Amino acid sequence: MYRGDIIGREIIFFDSVSSTNDTAISIGRKRDNPDGIVIIADEQSHGKGRFGKSWISPPGVNLYFTVLLRPPMLSRNASLLTLVSAVAVTTAIRDYTGLKAEIKWPNDILINGKKTAGILIDMKSDRDSLYFLAVGIGVNVNMSPEIMPEDIRPHITSLMAETGKSLDKITLLSQILAELENHYKILLNGNKMALIDEWLRLSSTIGSKVKVQNQDRIISGTAKGIDETGQLIIRLASGNLETVSAGEVTILKDNISL
Ligand code: BTN
Repeated sequence: MYRGDIIGREIIFFDSVSSTNDTAISIGRKRDNPDGIVIIADEQSHGKGRFGKSWISPPGVNLYFTVLLRPPMLSRNASLLTLVSAVAVTTAIRDYTGLKAEIKWPNDILINGKKTAGILIDMKSDRDSLYFLAVGIGVNVNMSPEIMPEDIRPHITSLMAETGKSLDKITLLSQILAELENHYKILLNGNKMALIDEWLRLSSTIGSKVKVQNQDRIISGTAKGIDETGQLIIRLASGNLETVSAGEVTILKDNISL
């Protein structure tokens, strides 16, 4: 198992938890320096996805883990950790499986247009100070998509479904942690642009026609890029540029929603 200088200097395994993010938050509150502690569970009874959705977390088949980070930065820059984690997970999946995993802004990981991994970041901060982040990562590794509810099944995949073979979860976890350490250090060294370039190289969103649902607003246009805090820049039909910090993106191809 990978042990970095920062990431994975302590790894805590559980058979079952409600959500590794919630476990990580309670550990983070008790530790003076939670930077790099990893919480991993074999199953989650209440796995959390973005937008209050649940993350289906059956035992034995997938990866569910949360990395505590305490980057020395202001809370308004915390979104850069979204880039770090999406780049790390995508790179590790590509290297381990040879599959062309891609990032859909902000941090969904897709293979052949279907979701195979997701990232949920919980943050403890006040207006300026960032106390810690709980970076929760779920990867569908050896799960059969057949067990997913029928309505979402067409949009979900797993590494096993895509490669046709069962994969070693711990090897993949080690590679993800190594990539997290690598890209976290790039950020800590102030090399934001290298990180953004890497994100752009791995993204399937930029250049596509998109629809972004941001609370009760829908913004449609062409995704032009991301700014230096990781926000998505969209060119509207009017030609104006709009920046969005959060939302659910649908990539439109020939007016068909994917
Ligand atoms: C999403 O794409 O909606 C985000 C999914 C994040 C799932 C992971 S699994 C480990 C961690 N614990 C949780 O409860 N959620 C994240």
